[in-house]
Amino acid sequence: MNNLSTGLTFKRGLQLKNRLVVAPMTTKMSFFDGVITNDEIDYYALRTGEVGAFITAAANVHEEGKGWDGELGVYDDRFIPGLSKLAAAIKKNHTKAILQIFHAGRMTDSKVLHGLQPVAPSAVAAERPDAQIPRELTEEEIWGILESFKKATERAIKAGFDGVEIHGANTYLIQQFFSPHSNRRTDDWGGSLEKRVRFINELVDGVTEVVDQSGVKDFVVGYRFSPEEYEEPGIRLSDTLFLVDLLSKKPLDYLHLSVNNYRNHSVSDGFKEKPIIEYIKETIKDRLPLIGVGDVRNGVDAKEILATADLVAVGRAMLIDPHWAQKVLDGQDHLIRTELSHYDQEDLRISNGVWGFLEGMMPERLK
Ligand SMILES: Cc1cc2nc3c(=O)[nH]c(=O)nc-3n(C[C@H](O)[C@H](O)[C@H](O)COP(=O)(O)O)c2cc1C
Repeated sequence: MNNLSTGLTFKRGLQLKNRLVVAPMTTKMSFFDGVITNDEIDYYALRTGEVGAFITAAANVHEEGKGWDGELGVYDDRFIPGLSKLAAAIKKNHTKAILQIFHAGRMTDSKVLHGLQPVAPSAVAAERPDAQIPRELTEEEIWGILESFKKATERAIKAGFDGVEIHGANTYLIQQFFSPHSNRRTDDWGGSLEKRVRFINELVDGVTEVVDQSGVKDFVVGYRFSPEEYEEPGIRLSDTLFLVDLLSKKPLDYLHLSVNNYRNHSVSDGFKEKPIIEYIKETIKDRLPLIGVGDVRNGVDAKEILATADLVAVGRAMLIDPHWAQKVLDGQDHLIRTELSHYDQEDLRISNGVWGFLEGMMPERLK
């Protein structure tokens, strides 16, 4: 079993002081144009220093990839000064700073995009209320987006981050290329499983090449994915295991499973014997470290997840208690804060957007 306080060294040399990671969480605190605010810096500073690594909120690599207001931007060099402040704020007491990079694809709307129609692999709307029909990307635009992920990686290096995490999860553009629901293309970017994985292949190769050719030391590249979709057609766990095997052969530093609860079982027949995370770990076969996540509330949960995964990411519990990590490392689970009142919002530096979302997502006992 991986002990919580044991360090970990990634392939590219970066060392983590322990196995705890802050999960990427949108803050909805950036300025309207994607520049980081001082309040947002305070939000990160409050929660850093105890964990091994801190993965930032998703930052959009392309202007047309903005998913919501208050989102962090990394699509232009003008973001580098603010991102440098963010990296410096996170890198306290040897905590490593990882920038999550993404493009929302069809999971946005023309209001957020100031009149522009969202773009996606195909002109198919997401199955959610009021979803807009996106515009199908041209081949040239696809190459342009791949390029923007590379540029974002260069900016992360310049800003002093310790790594980037490619956000291939949670139904955004990268996942949209892999999904048979959102990708109905009949060219080389869609159709068979092998063609639907092409975007991810090009993307991972492009980003890892940028890092390896830049000469930067100890800078990691991770990849986050969601295991399955409920839509018909949609990504099934067997598709994801194919993807995980492919990614395990790439020069990546880690894989990061995105699920709401680490105990989740698959909805696919044939994969119901054990939690999804165990199928993922078996497929990776120790080629890369795996980050597990989902409803980790205390040290007992963290240790349980580490029986399978190599690292544990914690989201909501770190919003409620910024010193969750130290309490868990010290074996002081009973001191973890589990309740919120409306008076806490300012002290915890949580924006209105996330506060409402958090209340909606919280188990009854935490409300
Ligand atoms: C407020 C909030 C914002 C989130 N934003 C992101 C995000 O930007 N990128 C991402 O990959 N996941 C995001 N997530 C998902 C978390 O990374 C995590 O997978 C999920 O919350 C489950 O972990 P938890 O139970 O420890 O919170 C977000 C979750 C929350 C609660």
